[in-house]
Amino acid sequence: MSEILAVRDLEKTFGSLVAARDITVSIPAEQTVGVIGANGAGKTTFINMITGHLVPSKGTILFENKDITGLPSREITRLGISRSFQVAQIFPTLTVRENMVVAAAIARRGGGMLGAVTTPVHSPAALAEAEATVELFQISRYADTPAGLLPQGVRKLLDIGMAVVGWPRLLLLDEPTSGISIEEKFDLMQVVMSALKTRRITVLFVEHDMEIVGRFADRVLAFYEGTVIADGTPEQTLGDAKVQELITGVKARSAGTSHV
Ligand SMILES: Nc1ncnc2c1ncn2[C@@H]1O[C@H](COP(=O)(O)OP(=O)(O)OP(=O)(O)O)[C@@H](O)[C@H]1O
Ligand SMILES: [Mg+2]
Repeated sequence: MSEILAVRDLEKTFGSLVAARDITVSIPAEQTVGVIGANGAGKTTFINMITGHLVPSKGTILFENKDITGLPSREITRLGISRSFQVAQIFPTLTVRENMVVAAAIARRGGGMLGAVTTPVHSPAALAEAEATVELFQISRYADTPAGLLPQGVRKLLDIGMAVVGWPRLLLLDEPTSGISIEEKFDLMQVVMSALKTRRITVLFVEHDMEIVGRFADRVLAFYEGTVIADGTPEQTLGDAKVQELITGVKARSAGTSHV
């Protein structure tokens, strides 16, 4: 498989705080990569640098062999990288379909949010893409429901669908199952991952639930204090002694003290 993302010696400092350091990772196309790490380990910082929401202090990021380091997020989105945020970014008073149409229009223009909401967006192509993506994410029966009234799980599906409607080749999901009950998480991820596979999208997803990581990731990166301390199959990374000691708390849990 060809390499889609290559990150070399990436670093991000905020004053004296080193939020990311020495990150070197190569991701082949169509791989599904789980990203784990305790709160403050640097997972979101890593994602924000790839999407252009943060400019790295050092290092390079190549996407499909093009150097995208420090480019504005709009430009990076236009090149084929999309994301969701830890908190869903939707318009609560618009219906599911309308939200998706706006997202489709933004993606088609490669432009910013403002341009899309202040000009007519109902091009037939945007409507068709919105409809197809609503279906792909299995939320057609909510198409006419205002997004603010959706159950949490459906809201997540809409949020991720909106990140996918423009056909990105790389998608970054920051805690897609946060705020979702344990019973609902698996079904939600099943729908999301099967939709992404259908579109052959490479995925990096941040996740705190190790069962979800073990079930859905082909590969797992473990972050600790801004750097990657393990990188391998879920079995390798989750079985790593350092990961168990510093992140998953498997050893601590057997003593009844972990909450991760
Ligand atoms: N804009 C910022 N300015 C200053 N410090 C920041 C900024 N963004 C992140 N940090 C710090 O960088 C470190 C890494 O934060 P980051 O948000 O990447 O962690 P995370 O792994 O995503 O954590 P969580 O699991 O809580 O989401 C933390 O110490 C955080 O306080
Ligand atoms: Mg985070």
